[in-house]
Amino acid sequence: MATHKEVGTSDTPRTEVVISPGEAVWLCRCMKSKKYPFCDGTHKQIEGFGPVKVECGKAE
Ligand code: FES
Repeated sequence: MATHKEVGTSDTPRTEVVISPGEAVWLCRCMKSKKYPFCDGTHKQIEGFGPVKVECGKAE
């Protein structure tokens, strides 16, 4: 299951997302998600924004 934590500073805020091999997540780009950094569908109320899908491939 994906996890996240704040790793930046107040001057340079950053969020680190960790996903497992074979897992995929949709990350919020509209900044309105109540589950930020993960998309919760709120972007549907904002024209021109949508999430980005991030996948971690499985090791072979
Ligand atoms: S809620 Fe922000 S992109 Fe989906």
